[in-house]
Amino acid sequence: MTRRQSPLPERPPGFIYRETREGILRRRRKSVLHCDEIAMPKLAAKYGTPLYVYSASMIRERSETFDRAFCHIPHTICYSVKANSNLRILRLLARQGCGFDVVSGGELERVLAADRKVARKIVFSGVGKTRDEITAALKAGILLFNVESESELWVLAECAAQLRTRARLALRVNPDVAAETHPYISTGLHKHKFGVPIRDARALYAKASGASSLRVAGVSVHIGSQITDVAPFGEALARVAELVRELLIDGHTIEYIDAGGGLGIAYEQPQAHDFSAIVAGYARTLAEPLRPLGVHLLLEPGRSIVGPAGALITSLLYRKANDGKRFLVVDAGMNDLIRPALYSAYHEIVPVELADSDSKSEDVDVVGPVCESGDFFARNRELPIVDEGGLLAILDAGAYGMTLASNYNTRPRPAEVLVSGKSVKLIRRREEVADLMRAER
Ligand code: LLP
Repeated sequence: MTRRQSPLPERPPGFIYRETREGILRRRRKSVLHCDEIAMPKLAAKYGTPLYVYSASMIRERSETFDRAFCHIPHTICYSVKANSNLRILRLLARQGCGFDVVSGGELERVLAADRKVARKIVFSGVGKTRDEITAALKAGILLFNVESESELWVLAECAAQLRTRARLALRVNPDVAAETHPYISTGLHKHKFGVPIRDARALYAKASGASSLRVAGVSVHIGSQITDVAPFGEALARVAELVRELLIDGHTIEYIDAGGGLGIAYEQPQAHDFSAIVAGYARTLAEPLRPLGVHLLLEPGRSIVGPAGALITSLLYRKANDGKRFLVVDAGMNDLIRPALYSAYHEIVPVELADSDSKSEDVDVVGPVCESGDFFARNRELPIVDEGGLLAILDAGAYGMTLASNYNTRPRPAEVLVSGKSVKLIRRREEVADLMRAER
């Protein structure tokens, strides 16, 4: 089945088409995709393709949207670094007042490299923290460890005791709430590896409070990613609130509830979704069970902040037809953006330039150069006709794009640029093959 896209999907304020005029009498009109004030073809000419382009204004606006929606509750947005971990983007978010959710020693180092002063706003999640990672986080003085098992609890206690400090912790509870999303990114059911079953939590909190190097400080939960219905968040938080009431009765001090991340974005038909209204609804849903508890809310959004703020620009290398099936072979591959291959994820794809006279479209598969049939960005997609050498933009690639990129097929990873109004910063240079071979001997 062919999937039709809306004719010119845009992601304002970051990615919009602007009309330009060409020809001697400037009669030929053309729509050119811009990021903020900058025309994409200029970026592609200067930095090459494939190229990740991010809009700083959009990242700022989206993090402010969260702050506005949650302004009635004491809260900290701990941006989830795994979504996009470029240092400049971390710094931009730190300046917005964000904290960070990290899941490895590497992410911790990145955040500290971006801004050493935000250590007290870092939460550390993940089922497999090593002693070294825990020790590094303790030394940095992070806000909270989200502990995911009893064994980890005792390792944390040991590491903290060795440093003669106390580790602030929350247990990440698994609320057994089903969230409608791809099975690979759903995490809130007992069959998943994440968290401790909520019914075991009370006993574990009792044990934790007996350890002198541990300080019980909160409860955390994260039920999955790309969740577009807010009801499961409400359900999970209601269960967490019930637990918190029990913990208070048991005499624990619960300062924080970490509600995790996971709010989804509209990869299809974003025009039909009002982000502010969605975040406001999400805030209302979370606030309801929390209000009577007087706790500080931590949020760990990743995708919803950076996803729509990034596009992957790619050049059309070849057009080809196999038995009537048309392929557009582009210079980006599954190694640059793996989401379609891994989760059958949908990303809108648009031509960067569109002449006024172009009204013809065609049914195509957009594929990369990697030697795998899974190396595709779109299948049976109706797209305006683009010539070889033309540019395409794969939209909503700001989250889990570059962070999941690999060097498969010894392909250097793309460059990244951050656009802010009229200014353009190269925030990661294109890799060279020499970079890829450097660690080998
Ligand atoms: N907090 C925790 C504990 C998480 O595991 C995650 C995501 C987040 C926060 C951020 O979730 P977000 O707000 O971005 O949905 N690679 C997949 C997504 C994996 C998400 C993993 N955990 C994708 O491309 O869809």
